[in-house]
Amino acid sequence: MKVTVVGAGNVGATCADVLAYREVANEVVLIDIKEGIAEGKALDIWQKAPINQYDTRTVGVTNDYTKTANSDVVVITSGLPRKPGMTRDDLIETNAGIVKSVTEQVVKFSPEAIIVIVSNPLDVMTYQAHITSKLPRTKVIGMAGILDTARYRAFLAEALNVSPKDIQAVLMGGHGDTMVPLPRYTTVGGIPVTELIDAETLNAIIERTKAGGGELVKLMGTSAWYAPGSAAAQMVEAIIRDQRRVFPVCVKLEGEYGIDNCYLGVPVVLGKNGVEKVIELDLTAEEKELLNTSRDHVKEVMAVLDRISK
Ligand code: NAI
Ligand code: 2OP
Repeated sequence: MKVTVVGAGNVGATCADVLAYREVANEVVLIDIKEGIAEGKALDIWQKAPINQYDTRTVGVTNDYTKTANSDVVVITSGLPRKPGMTRDDLIETNAGIVKSVTEQVVKFSPEAIIVIVSNPLDVMTYQAHITSKLPRTKVIGMAGILDTARYRAFLAEALNVSPKDIQAVLMGGHGDTMVPLPRYTTVGGIPVTELIDAETLNAIIERTKAGGGELVKLMGTSAWYAPGSAAAQMVEAIIRDQRRVFPVCVKLEGEYGIDNCYLGVPVVLGKNGVEKVIELDLTAEEKELLNTSRDHVKEVMAVLDRISK
């Protein structure tokens, strides 16, 4: 199995590193536009193999897509990250151009690949890659929900002083302030979270999760990479190993949840064909309203993309 990661920056290199040490693929190709950066990081990851005991070959290239040919999965992380004071949506103009040109190259050399988008604004970059690739919606998907739920789960684990492994959660909607955490579907070792935490603390955690990306941008001057890179790698692993994991993933909705033609995070079954199934939860009126607000926001940003692409 072969995986390409486009963009050898913070998120792309982390993703390649996780894919290598977990031996998800035989070969991981890291590609970047900046001369030497992908080669250097791939070589560094390869030199870690004897220490961490893995045999995934990692190869770095500068803008040479022939080396990515016949990849089974391609992760696109190329693009600008947020700086303090910026929203994810501020990145649209630059990143849409990058994601479009990269996707054209990816499908030219790997027409069968499943594409996982990471670049921001996530939901609309998934839209960009989907229309550029002309692939079925099940094969062009975005990573955000795994990261957002991981933040939520980590905050809960801290508050409850339990292992994050035992916290299961679902979160829906766009990757931004309008994301929709669903406490009703959050459990701690099978116990509904609402039986273990008071409403005020839970609400504070939900609000912190919504602003979770911004919290890190403020601290570091750029956006996060360890959890995002690992989250993208977890999606790749589910696809390559046909694990049929249930994850929140950004996909084009075609009528599910009463929403059409919008790219939003929803729970799906992820396997060798990409999205094997979109899971439709029976949302309460209040949850549905929050999801519709998120849909409206993503649709606004999709319209911006439509305008600048004309
Ligand atoms: P970074 O600046 O560290 O790396 C981006 C890399 O993309 C750079 O090495 C750059 O040279 C490369 N690049 C730019 N244009 C390219 C092209 N045409 N072809 C190939 N490579 C190209 O940024 P970082 O932190 O890795 O973030 C990458 C993207 O992921 C950003 O848009 C960021 O906002 C997004 N992100 C999304 C998350 C999510 O949950 N979906 C989480 C974290 C970041
Ligand atoms: C994050 O949530 C900025 O989307 C990036 O960390």
